[in-house]
Amino acid sequence: MTAPIKLVIFLSGRGSNFQAIFESIQKKKLNAEIVAVVSDKPHSKGVEFAREQGLNTIVRVPNTFPDLAAFESDLLAQLKLIQIDLVVLAGYMRIVGPVLLQAFRGKIINIHPSLLPKYKGLHAQKQAIEDGATESGCTVHFVVESLDGGPIIAQVSVPVFSDDTEETLSNRILKEEHQLLPETIRQIQNQMRNGEVK
Ligand code: GRF
Repeated sequence: MTAPIKLVIFLSGRGSNFQAIFESIQKKKLNAEIVAVVSDKPHSKGVEFAREQGLNTIVRVPNTFPDLAAFESDLLAQLKLIQIDLVVLAGYMRIVGPVLLQAFRGKIINIHPSLLPKYKGLHAQKQAIEDGATESGCTVHFVVESLDGGPIIAQVSVPVFSDDTEETLSNRILKEEHQLLPETIRQIQNQMRNGEVK
């Protein structure tokens, strides 16, 4: 069997996408290893789950550092100690700055709850409803300097119904996210194996 892809998960909150990846690994649907879980929130549900599972957790609180570069440099010093193939942003509610972007160029992916390039930024599901969209979904994309702006890797669409609330639409999209993210990691792993991604 080939070596598992080594993942670092960045999260800030509930961590349901992280758990979906974790379960895919446990069910052997994804040949991966979570080598670290990074959180900017010490008591997020996601990081607590990671601790319960005995995973390597790295918590850094940004406002205890002078600026973004200092925060990311400190994180990077920790991350350099481990071998990493892919950084997965799974509900990481921060901009990734130049320090991490340069260190992991082309190796950071994010999941966003809209069909990008539509509805970037916060409250994407609410944006879709307020816009009267009849379709929305989720996107996995590479992370670049511009917010939610990097090359799209995979998307899944869901219908938006006239009686949808932010919550009902978010739930419908989230269900798809939990499939799409592990599936996309698998796809990237294949591409890395075939030398299509360095
Ligand atoms: C998801 O909707 C994801 O698309 C967005 O943030 C949310 C994170 O949810 N980037 P969870 O923490 O994975 O449950």
